[in-house]
Amino acid sequence: MKIGKKWLSSLALIVGAGLLVSACGSGGQQPAAGGSGAGASDKVYVVGTDAAYPPFEMLEADKISGHDVDVLNAIAEAGGFKVEWKNTGWDPLFDGLDKGTVDIGISTITITDKRKQKYDFSEPYFEANQLILVAEDSPVQKLADLKGKKIGVQAATTGEEVVKKAFGDTYEGLKGYDDMPSSVDDFFNGRVDAVVGDNGVLQYYVKKIENKKFKLIKDDSFEKEYYGIMVKKGNTDMMNKINDGLKKIKENGKLQEIYNKYFGNK
Ligand code: ARG
Repeated sequence: MKIGKKWLSSLALIVGAGLLVSACGSGGQQPAAGGSGAGASDKVYVVGTDAAYPPFEMLEADKISGHDVDVLNAIAEAGGFKVEWKNTGWDPLFDGLDKGTVDIGISTITITDKRKQKYDFSEPYFEANQLILVAEDSPVQKLADLKGKKIGVQAATTGEEVVKKAFGDTYEGLKGYDDMPSSVDDFFNGRVDAVVGDNGVLQYYVKKIENKKFKLIKDDSFEKEYYGIMVKKGNTDMMNKINDGLKKIKENGKLQEIYNKYFGNK
């Protein structure tokens, strides 16, 4: 199952790389072709995301959609720049920014001191916190009660961090997954006793599954987290454009409107 997925994503990477190469081959070498007079302002920025975190970023009929997608598209419009979307996955998103194959990352990325050493973040656009998903009849009431139990997280996320902080970096029960849906699947199949992840995504799964036999718990130690849009460190021009667009959509109510679309009471 896991291998199959990896295969698929490497295949996607290979195909994607091929497309990029051919795009450079035709457009890059012959600036005169078409005579569109493309200037620097026509640059299309590549936005990377891990489109497996509903309702923030997800794939619907092969299209990347969700809260963050609407937010960044609105920012681009307000900030006056063009974007194209790339479903990179989580770890490759950070690699892509390092290598320059991705210009902008938006993927419910929590602004952390550690990440700030390597990347620049926009102003926050969303407030979140961790939650614990357990069976409805579970006696677990707080994070510490999970000691000795198997806990699923998406690897290299703040969910993984809170578990490591509580039980140690080498905690045996910790299972890190490449993506969030795999951890939730394993929870429903009984392969892990709990999942720790962002509130928005876990609440989405809880709502989605009709026959609710599980519950969500918030531990007192879970701090407020803020999502930011990420670029490679020092990419100040890009960041100014993003913050400018973000400020505009905060002021004109667009950000709130997008929030209501996905999280308003229905
Ligand atoms: N907010 C958490 C973090 O920054 C989890 C984000 C995971 N997002 C995703 N699209 N997979 O570590």
